[in-house]
Amino acid sequence: MNQYKVVMTGRLMTPALERIQETCEVKLWEKAESIPHETLVDWLKDAEGLVVTGDIQVNEELLQYAPKLKVIAQSAVGYDNVDTEACTRHGILFGNTPGVLVETTADLAFSLLLCAARRIHEGWNFVREGSWNRGSKISLGIDLAGKTLGIVGMGQIGVAVAKRAKVFGMNVIYYNRNRRLDDHETGATYQSFDAVLAQADCMIVLTPLSKETRGLFGASQFAQMKRTAYFVNMSRGPVVDTNALFDALQTGKIAYAALDVTDPEPLPGDHPLLTLSNILITPHIGSATQETRTAMSQLTADNLLAGLNDKPLPACVNAK
Ligand code: DGY
Repeated sequence: MNQYKVVMTGRLMTPALERIQETCEVKLWEKAESIPHETLVDWLKDAEGLVVTGDIQVNEELLQYAPKLKVIAQSAVGYDNVDTEACTRHGILFGNTPGVLVETTADLAFSLLLCAARRIHEGWNFVREGSWNRGSKISLGIDLAGKTLGIVGMGQIGVAVAKRAKVFGMNVIYYNRNRRLDDHETGATYQSFDAVLAQADCMIVLTPLSKETRGLFGASQFAQMKRTAYFVNMSRGPVVDTNALFDALQTGKIAYAALDVTDPEPLPGDHPLLTLSNILITPHIGSATQETRTAMSQLTADNLLAGLNDKPLPACVNAK
């Protein structure tokens, strides 16, 4: 029985999609490229639910075309692409997927740090290109034990990263808008942003993208960091000024960067960052495991179906 009309700008994992299709008539955009604006606008005119992907800007302009929309669900914890105040003005609930991706994303953050510190992909490239012989040299990495890890953005994922870092014998300091009341549980020490910049041997950025955090890491921040610093960005690309990062890596203001997010995203194959040897980039795969993507898809379906049925969303960003 197709009770509700739903637009999806990308796929969810099959079990969640099938749950939605049990009660909804779904218009699903399945192509790799983003749904064209005109198509989305056309599809939205009678839609009551929208499952949106991070490549779509949900703003006042788009919502004008969606007079019947009751609920928007996104399969991500970050929602910098969604103007939640505009949603509220239009009486639309917006749900995201916090919690279910915490451990997986922390795993990738720490993996990137480990791979960077031990220059794993350089070693692999070296072997693969046939350079593994006695006379050849590879870059030496660094030990993590005994080093200071700075975490910028200490939400649930930051706490999970701090726990991993402790097990590896690191000293953890962090900067967050507010000090966490539970920081004694991880032993992480709250510091000012400038102190974290100056003291960190390794830095993991996990802050959401907002007006305040856009460009948070620019030329002056990289200049304050140790020349030996390893820098990991797991938040959103625009939190870092890409040109400033390129310059910092090229001129040795910092030692190395590992990025799961970039600006622009996707990163074009001829981007200057790709000419550097002291960088490792993964294609925004923080939550990309079978189990976690399944859980995120199910929570997205839960949010959507709850909103369509006038029930409270399990994870609502703009609850009344
Ligand atoms: C998230 O959940 O915000 C991830 O970064 C995927 O976009």
